[in-house]
Amino acid sequence: MIIHSIYQIGIILSKQNVLFMTKKNHLLLVNDFHTETIDTLDSLYQTHKLWQLDQPSKEKLILSLAPACKAVAAGSWSFDDVIYQLPKLELISCFGVGVDLIDFDKTRQRNIRVTNTPDVLNDAVADVALALILATCRNIMNADRFVRNKKWLDGPFLFGRGLEGKVLGIVGLGRIGEAIVHRALPFKLEIAYHNRSPKQLPYTYHSTLRALAQNSDILLCMLPGEEETNKLINYEILQHLGPDGVFINVGRGSSVDELALAQALREGTIAGAGLDVYADEPHVPDELLALDNIVLLPHIGSGTTETRVAMGKLVLENLAAHFSGQPLITEVP
Ligand code: NAP
Ligand code: 8YV
Repeated sequence: MIIHSIYQIGIILSKQNVLFMTKKNHLLLVNDFHTETIDTLDSLYQTHKLWQLDQPSKEKLILSLAPACKAVAAGSWSFDDVIYQLPKLELISCFGVGVDLIDFDKTRQRNIRVTNTPDVLNDAVADVALALILATCRNIMNADRFVRNKKWLDGPFLFGRGLEGKVLGIVGLGRIGEAIVHRALPFKLEIAYHNRSPKQLPYTYHSTLRALAQNSDILLCMLPGEEETNKLINYEILQHLGPDGVFINVGRGSSVDELALAQALREGTIAGAGLDVYADEPHVPDELLALDNIVLLPHIGSGTTETRVAMGKLVLENLAAHFSGQPLITEVP
């Protein structure tokens, strides 16, 4: 049977677990992460929508839920530490793979389990990474403006940068990074990478980010947002990438010193950049907005209808597994 919607998944899961949920369990929703998934959650749980409340009402809700609420669901791009005031909290089900906003000191201290939505979004995010590589190297956005502004009447557009034989250096080559590689190879890009440890892969491994930057034409960041990766991409790294270099970020904005990136782009330290993520979303520094050698996307990596349904399915399945005492599907270790 082909499952066409989150709702059908919800009906199936509810039938499987009706014995375990003789009355609906409470579920706190932190943000409005995916309407279709939340509609299904509304039918399966006693849901409470935190994002609709002001701070005093949030505190009152948490007090009223204290005796009963064991689970929270949230989109990974925002969080609210008030949820840790729930004394019976057992599970946080994240809609998204990045879990940088979870306080793991608290979850591990209290044995609160955390799940996320890895793998189902690899292809969508990798597609956007390749889109940014092409858009920056072939100057697509400026070419579009060139035509729209009737500049073509005055002469041809500037040459771009070819991909064949160029080195795509990926920092943080993991699940999504490998999906990017599968897309990059047909474009005849050479692959290099830097992780904390090498993988059994037939690509050039650099033990330092500096060496990767020095030996790449396109430096692509696919790093998770963590204290350890904070501003790893700084002005020095961009200098090593060099004046013909292009920087792409599809991981987390926190990995980049954005003002240093703006300076490098302004001064020609690097040739161009393409970003899908930023340190303080949805705010983008004016210093970046002012530049025409950068492509700026609004964190759309996993933003396809199909991918968000698949992410929502994992949120539903992890919650159903937890409340029915079954093994979690995608637990964050
Ligand atoms: P993953 O499979 O865990 O890959 C992350 C890779 O980064 C691993 O291979 C890891 O290798 C490496 N790494 C971690 N810390 C490092 C460090 N300090 N220095 C060098 N390498 C490091 O994760 P994923 O599924 O590919 O997702 C990666 C990230 O992409 C997510 O955490 C999220 O922040 C972001 N993301 C963005 C979007 C979007 O819409 N733009 C969508 C989904 C995910 P080692 O452990 O060997 O270092
Ligand atoms: C966001 C992402 O979570 O999965 C991640 O880590 O960065 C994205 O998929 C997505 O924007 C959630 O709404």
